[in-house]
Amino acid sequence: MFEAESFVREQVAIVREKIEGNAIIACSGGVDSTVAAAIVNEAIGDRLLTIYVDTGLMRKGETEEVAGMLDDLGLNYKIVDASEEFFNALEGISDPEEKRKAIGERFIRVFEREAKAFDADYLVQGTIAPDWIESGDEFRDTIKSHHNVGGIPEEMGLELIEPLRDLYKDEVRIIARHLGVKVSERQPFPGPALAIRVLGEVTRENVEIVRNACYIAEDEIEMAAKKGIMELPWQYFAVLLPVQSVGVHGDARVYGKTVVVRAVKSIDGMSAAYSRIPHEVLEKISVRITNEMKRQVNRVVYDITNKPPGTIEWE
Ligand code: XMP
Repeated sequence: MFEAESFVREQVAIVREKIEGNAIIACSGGVDSTVAAAIVNEAIGDRLLTIYVDTGLMRKGETEEVAGMLDDLGLNYKIVDASEEFFNALEGISDPEEKRKAIGERFIRVFEREAKAFDADYLVQGTIAPDWIESGDEFRDTIKSHHNVGGIPEEMGLELIEPLRDLYKDEVRIIARHLGVKVSERQPFPGPALAIRVLGEVTRENVEIVRNACYIAEDEIEMAAKKGIMELPWQYFAVLLPVQSVGVHGDARVYGKTVVVRAVKSIDGMSAAYSRIPHEVLEKISVRITNEMKRQVNRVVYDITNKPPGTIEWE
């Protein structure tokens, strides 16, 4: 049986011993980075600066929610508004891997600046065992290295601190519960965030549409699961397609965008089955999206593809 209390005690002692000056950690509000931040905070207090980068690509209310959570945990944190620079970096890019690269690069530049300003010698990361155990899959390694802002320590001469390195997700969740970290049950969310849920070019307008659509899909699905109408899927969201189809507005035929609703059942994201969302729930999602965004979206479709052959995300 995994013992959260003794694990935390032991790691706090190790971290306290290792870190002599200041440290920074990038925290997106995800369970791994938040738990890592909480442990290091316990060890060195305000000598740890937790950085949340507002990329402009996060879900509705996410920045406020994460800030509230970091407050509750008593962390010394800073919210860096970098949305302008992320949107500029994404301008004109439609290729998914180019998007990931541009985003990874931006994260690195932001951290470089922040680490320098805080005079940090250490970089804390919420790396867990599946992130480094060889998967034999280069693509996945690339994903993780972007997500965990790989390359920073070597480039910047920062020493890496990874208190969760030997743990699996279920163990991190046990620690999260033990420490009262609220994010512990959240659905997975990709590092490049909503940028890979806007197919084609990422503009502020398109991100706003997909942000609202994701919110509506999440909201209706969570309400339905609470009522017992359906099981809560492992992951559930919306995607905006660069496809215009015809619709009616009063007497006029007008073109509007298409939103896909995606929901899957999975254990680890490696394979997945599409979720059987009841039609009444799908209809509510569709009506809300097309009502609340009538000028932009006129069609909602449901993705019924398993993984493989599809992936969970569309990019
Ligand atoms: P796919 O789309 O490959 O996704 O079936 C599997 C899981 O990984 C997430 N995902 C990512 N996570 N950086 C991440 O941190 C990425 O670039 C990325 N791409 C996909 C996806 O949301 C799903 O949970």
